[in-house]
Amino acid sequence: MKLADKVAVVTGAASGMGRAAVEELVRNGATVYAIDLREEPLLQAFESEASVRTIALDISDSSSVSRALRRVEDEQSRLDVLINAAGVSTPNSEKQRWVDEINHEMINAAKEGREYHPDFLSGITDDDFRRVIDINLNGTFFMIREAASLMKETGGSIVNFASVAGLMGLPMPAYYPASKAAIVGMTKAIAAELAPFDIRVNALAPAGINTAMFAASGDEHMDALLALQPLKRVAEPEEIAKTVLFLASEESGHYTGQTLSPSGGAVMM
Ligand SMILES: NC(=O)c1ccc[n+]([C@@H]2O[C@H](COP(=O)([O-])OP(=O)(O)OC[C@H]3O[C@@H](n4cnc5c(N)ncnc54)[C@H](O)[C@@H]3O)[C@@H](O)[C@H]2O)c1
Repeated sequence: MKLADKVAVVTGAASGMGRAAVEELVRNGATVYAIDLREEPLLQAFESEASVRTIALDISDSSSVSRALRRVEDEQSRLDVLINAAGVSTPNSEKQRWVDEINHEMINAAKEGREYHPDFLSGITDDDFRRVIDINLNGTFFMIREAASLMKETGGSIVNFASVAGLMGLPMPAYYPASKAAIVGMTKAIAAELAPFDIRVNALAPAGINTAMFAASGDEHMDALLALQPLKRVAEPEEIAKTVLFLASEESGHYTGQTLSPSGGAVMM
């Protein structure tokens, strides 16, 4: 039990890598506060799990984040682990369809040897750009700011989800790689600031992982991503949860400010 008597908060807990992380942390002895925007799947996922408390909130709303962390403090008087997995790749489902259409066209043009220049830039509204940054970047920042003051009592570990999209130059709507590259930079600065309190801060930059977010972009997109990877398979969220556990536990005691990329070798650092 690598996390016996430890208290953790996980965002994006209703689905994919966040959900798998909650399950892995609980298996290793932690009490987990599972946070997600979507209450119904969150409750369904953990209704029979005694070590999990669920909180439905939008991480881009700093006062809700602050209230949630106050609850953790009131009930546990400590926080050892924060996993920031909540994120979106597009601002809404209509924009997801728009991105899918352009990706489809790009992939077909490449197959047919046709020239095609995608135009993501002119289709992104102010609100689209702000919404993705609000969730992926600002929401992650709000979580860390509120968690850090509580963690300073005991030390701890924070894991932020970035993406290969923030490390490579891939044609896509710029809000997503902008938010994920910013997470890499923020991880380093906060790691340096919190090191005196024995709080470690690291990031994960996955490529295609078999979750709802990835499935939403379709098989063609999956094939295109696999073409970039030396290891020709999509990873499962449970595999990534093993790395989350490593970073959350003392086994990674000398890692801070790092970005590890579970990407089948698409990014080698
Ligand atoms: N799946 C991939 O291939 C992949 C690749 C690289 C990076 N990532 C990143 O990994 C993280 C986890 O992704 P996943 O694939 O498990 O996604 P997912 O879509 O399965 O889960 C994300 C969860 O975040 C929640 N969420 C969204 N907006 C929220 C908000 N404002 N407040 C609270 N919760 C919110 C969603 O409801 C959802 O349950 C994300 O940050 C994503 O950007 C995923």
